[in-house]
Amino acid sequence: MGKVHVFDHPLIQHKVALMRKTETTTKDFRDLATEVVTLMGFEATRNLPLEPVEIETPICKATVNMLKGEDIAIVPILRAGLGFVDGMLSLYPNAKVGHIGLYRDPETHEPVEYYCKMPTDIDKREIFVVDPMLATGGSAVAAIDFIKQHGGKNIAFMCLIAAPEGIEVLQKAHPDVDIYIAAKDEKLNENAYIVPGLGDAGDRLYGTK
Ligand code: PRP
Ligand code: URA
Repeated sequence: MGKVHVFDHPLIQHKVALMRKTETTTKDFRDLATEVVTLMGFEATRNLPLEPVEIETPICKATVNMLKGEDIAIVPILRAGLGFVDGMLSLYPNAKVGHIGLYRDPETHEPVEYYCKMPTDIDKREIFVVDPMLATGGSAVAAIDFIKQHGGKNIAFMCLIAAPEGIEVLQKAHPDVDIYIAAKDEKLNENAYIVPGLGDAGDRLYGTK
């Protein structure tokens, strides 16, 4: 079963609390998303493999640890997941970025695919699927299905807020995928929105309704 890692660091909790507030502006929401994902990405990549490398400091030769390759892929689920890409790229500037376009059908709440483009070497990369919200889990499961169809193997899912229902669905469908979240909320409402949540993440990021 994939582990659920909840980032309860006070800075992350504080910034997510600001994002939840109705009066937070689109600009502030976007800036906070980048700040939070940078903090989360720092912690979520704690187990990336290092390798010893010989370098020369101004003082002497030394063997130091450096990341073993830059074998990361970031895969945002469009469109709200795009709000996480810059933060992750600031940590891993050479990461490749795949895109999956999905939206939830407003009636059925089922994910509908409209775009999918993965790096060709996705099978060799540590993959971080990013999306602010894990509600019913339908979008995350469908996105990870696509990535696996393209050969992706080492996959983690990172979001801001998850509902217990979504975590369960994702764990059942993809037990090999670790889940990184900033907050586990109470439940879903009758429209499959997370309670208390932050509303529609895509609309809040891009100022749409
Ligand atoms: C939101 C969110 C997730 C999905 C989560 O996207 O960004 O992708 O809903 O819900 P689920 O777990 O029930 O599938 P939305 O469908 O609103 O599309 P958008 O990003 O284009 O706004
Ligand atoms: N998608 C969102 O953007 N917010 C929710 O609460 C649920 C799905």
